[in-house]
Amino acid sequence: MTYQHHFEKGTDPSAPPLLLLHGTGGNELDLVQLAQAISPGSTIISPRGDVNENGNLRFFRRLSEGVFDLEDVKTRSTALAEFIREATSQYGVDQKRLIALGLSNGANIASTVLQLFPGVVAGAVLLRAMLVLNSHPPKGSLAATKILMSNGRADPIIPADHPPRLAAIFKEAGAAVTLREQEAGHNLVAGDIQAAREWLASLGAPRS
Ligand code: MLT
Repeated sequence: MTYQHHFEKGTDPSAPPLLLLHGTGGNELDLVQLAQAISPGSTIISPRGDVNENGNLRFFRRLSEGVFDLEDVKTRSTALAEFIREATSQYGVDQKRLIALGLSNGANIASTVLQLFPGVVAGAVLLRAMLVLNSHPPKGSLAATKILMSNGRADPIIPADHPPRLAAIFKEAGAAVTLREQEAGHNLVAGDIQAAREWLASLGAPRS
């Protein structure tokens, strides 16, 4: 498979499997504790970003802060979508229940994967996502997709209009979007974790 990754088989079959996508400078183990806190017992698939920016790993290239290499964004989103298909098949994980949990750059690639490959994950928790690609998935293509976006009111990295614009793109394609705003900057706060935990619990257990 294309990405080096961490896999952890869950202990609770009713908990949704999670795809962890770390932020710039992180690695595949960064979000494991967070995932266990918000969704105990979930199976975890966690790839390591394969773009090296001065020693900091991330999921796609940028030219400067907030200025992205859009061709690279598309190429890497395609590679990640392919990885998701392969990894879920290899590990016997139900792709129809897979929830992406992304932080910052990881939330951004989760968003571009949702925009370019609707249906490749069942939903996403996007922590500090911004609008990277102005790409509109076809109407109805995200009808089965649930998305939580949690952003910081005083985030110096994310322009204030980005979260609502990204949410509008997802909604136009039929996704059920919950948009939360925290009293925070780019770093996570307790409210993010609580929002993610409640949202994941609201998905409910699968019907047998
Ligand atoms: C990005 O480059 O994806 C965003 O600016 C978030 C970050 O990684 O700082």
